[in-house]
Formats: sequence, structure tokens, C-alpha cells
Amino acid sequence: MQDAIPAFTAFTAFTDVLSHLDAGVLTLTINRLDKKNSITSAMYSALADALDSANHDPAVRAVVIQGHETIFSAGNDIGDFLNKPPATSESPVFRFLRGISSFPKPVIASVCGPAVGIGTTLLLHCDLVYAGDNAAFSMPFVNLGLCPEAASSFLAPQLMGYVRAAEALLLGEPFTAESALEMGLINRIVPPAEANALAQRQALKLAGKPMTSVMETKRLMKKGNAAMVAERMDEEGASFGRMLQEPAAREAFTAFMEKRKPDFSKV
Ligand code: COA
Repeated sequence: MQDAIPAFTAFTAFTDVLSHLDAGVLTLTINRLDKKNSITSAMYSALADALDSANHDPAVRAVVIQGHETIFSAGNDIGDFLNKPPATSESPVFRFLRGISSFPKPVIASVCGPAVGIGTTLLLHCDLVYAGDNAAFSMPFVNLGLCPEAASSFLAPQLMGYVRAAEALLLGEPFTAESALEMGLINRIVPPAEANALAQRQALKLAGKPMTSVMETKRLMKKGNAAMVAERMDEEGASFGRMLQEPAAREAFTAFMEKRKPDFSKV
């Protein structure tokens, strides 16, 4: 059975995010391979709308977010950052982040290849994460003249311990699937060709359990962090929005588009 949820059927020409509902599992596939699955504001809108519909649709009992065997996501589309940076808390990226961080049903991610920026921070809001052995996680916000988002300034130190979070967030150093496993960011490492199938199997298991019980258990586990996550996400969002317009970020994005190293000597 293949079924598209309304937000996607309305957007027929849009294939950068694919949606597929089968046996209670809604699978959202980031599908913009020519740009390394970087995420545009239209894609954030599609993802946010999908989560919103899934939240209210009893046919959806679990959500899988996946990319391609070679790339999960290169993070936010840098051209979008330059040309139409998120201006308000209602901007698509912030709508998506609020949606995933408060999503009441289980979310499972399958991650292969690079997971840059939001490609890593969104995982902090998933319930189960399966990774290919080629996964490479990074949160290079400082290297882009930005600050963390998705409450990662709160959740990463909590998960990894402060000094490892500082390596990831202050130095912006990438880390491997093995490190991610050891730090508790992911559940299991498998060959890349097997990651999506494993995520589906686990999602199907969850979809077969009593939803009332699954959702209440998730709510109780998340309860201790929920208020802090929402508050931190707002504070980060305000700083991130301001910093996007400042010289350091403008230099970083322009350098990326011009395929050169950024010059931060004056910022
Ligand atoms: N936004 C927009 N375009 C992006 C992009 C992004 N975040 N990441 C990659 N692309 C584009 C490149 O500009 C290139 O486009 P082109 O073919 O028109 O020149 C294409 O995708 C391929 O990227 P390339 O860098 O050549 O691929 P790679 O395999 O050598 O490296 C990455 C892959 C993900 C490691 C690298 O692309 C990268 O570091 N991207 C930027 C990540 C980033 O800083 N994201 C922002 C986080 S907040």
C-alpha cells in the first residue's frame, strides 16, 4: 500500500522530500542528492507540514526520517541562508524544529554518510537512530559564524558530556559513527545498504504496539527536558537569526558559494 499524506499530494511537483505511508509507518526521505540533501525552506515547510499532519492522523503510528545511502544531509541550504534567512519564529526551519522536538509519536532516523548541522541536531529529537558505518556527524556552526540550533547547546552537553560537546560545537569537529554510538547519539551501526531497512523494521515493531502506551512512555521520558528544550530553542533561534546577517556568517556562506576558504581575520 502506498499513500501520500495531504500536505504532499497538494505539492505534486515537489520531490525534494518524499513521503510514503505503509502499515502505520510514515517514511520521509530527504531527496535532493545533487545538492547533497541540503535542506531548503520549501523542504522544511514540507517536513513541518508532514509532521503536523502525521500528528493528527491516527493512521500514522511511527515516522522514519531517512536520506540516501551516501548522504543523510549537508544541513541547511547555504544559498537559502544567504538569500532568504529565516526571519521569524514562524520560519519553516523553526516550524520544523518545534514539530520534531514535540512530536508525540515515535521518530526513527536512518543516517548514512555526512549528517551536517541540522542533519545531526535533528537526531537529538529522534527516539531511535540507526547509522551506516559511513556516517559522519558534524555541527560546524562556529565555523560558519553561527551558534547552535535545535536546542543542541543544551542537549549535546547533556548527552555527550561538556568536553565532548565542546569539541563538536566549539571546534566543529566531525565525529564517526563509532563515537556517536559510544556517546549515545545512535543505537546501532550497520552497513549503509542495511540502515533504511533496519529503521523500517524497528518502526514497524513500534507501529504494532499499543499507541496509547508508546506515546505516554515517550511523553514521560521527554518530560524532564521539554520546557528547557523549548526555551533553549527560542533563545538559540533569536541568536542564530541575528548572526546569519552578521559579517562572519556572510563571509562563511559567500566563501562556500565561491568554493574558497573563509577569511575570518576581520570578524
Ligand atoms: N547548501 C547548498 N548547497 C550545498 C550544500 C549546502 N549546505 N552542501 C553541498 N552543496 C552543493 C555544493 O555546492 C555542490 O553544488 P554544485 O555541484 O552546484 O557545485 C554540490 O552540493 C556537491 O557538494 P560538494 O561539496 O562538491 O560534495 P562533497 O561530496 O565533496 O562534500 C559535504 C559533501 C556535505 C561534506 C560538503 O558538501 C559540505 O561540507 N557541505 C556544506 C555543509 C555545511 O556547511 N552545511 C551547513 C550546516 S549549518
